[in-house]
Amino acid sequence: MRAMQAIVILISGGGSNMQAIVRAAHQEDWPARYGARIAAVISNRADAAGLAWAAAHNVATRVIAHTDFPDRAAFEAALAQDIARHGGGGHPPWVVLAGFMRILTPAFVQAHSGRLFNIHPSLLPAFTGLHTHARALAAGCRFAGATVHRVTEVLDQGEILEQSVVPVLPGDSEASLAARVLATEHQIYPRALRRLLQARER
Ligand code: GRF
Repeated sequence: MRAMQAIVILISGGGSNMQAIVRAAHQEDWPARYGARIAAVISNRADAAGLAWAAAHNVATRVIAHTDFPDRAAFEAALAQDIARHGGGGHPPWVVLAGFMRILTPAFVQAHSGRLFNIHPSLLPAFTGLHTHARALAAGCRFAGATVHRVTEVLDQGEILEQSVVPVLPGDSEASLAARVLATEHQIYPRALRRLLQARER
């Protein structure tokens, strides 16, 4: 039998995407159906609201605060070590970034190549980086959306795996547009992972 594919989710805040993934994994019984389980949620901030939610839903949680380390390399080494301990049978975990607000170095990205994923709140390749909704409004976009993509060394430019599209409505604020996009993120992130797991079965 294949080793169970561990999935480790990294968050920094509310973790609503993490919640959507944990819920989907539970409701669709990913362990039985796809041989995959949500092994842990790791936050770089102790005050991330998503931590309490994950713990209440029986997911192992861990805080690895970047502020506890002298530099980015030391922080990432601790992060990588904690991620690796969730793997089994020579099967390293998938690493799912869900509102994780630290930029990862090329060394970390290379070490997790092929199993590192992110969701970005824009229709990539438009609006990489921060303040995506404000920039979409300022540009007069008629549509906005979100993208699940593989993480490579170039910020927000890895292979696109899933996208969602929403209309920009008259009178939209950054907050109203963000909320409309976020609701679709909760659909496409579980879907992207489900498709990757299904592809792995073949
Ligand atoms: C989402 O909009 C995601 O696209 C971006 O950060 C936000 C995280 O939200 N990377 P949440 O913590 O999943 O609620």
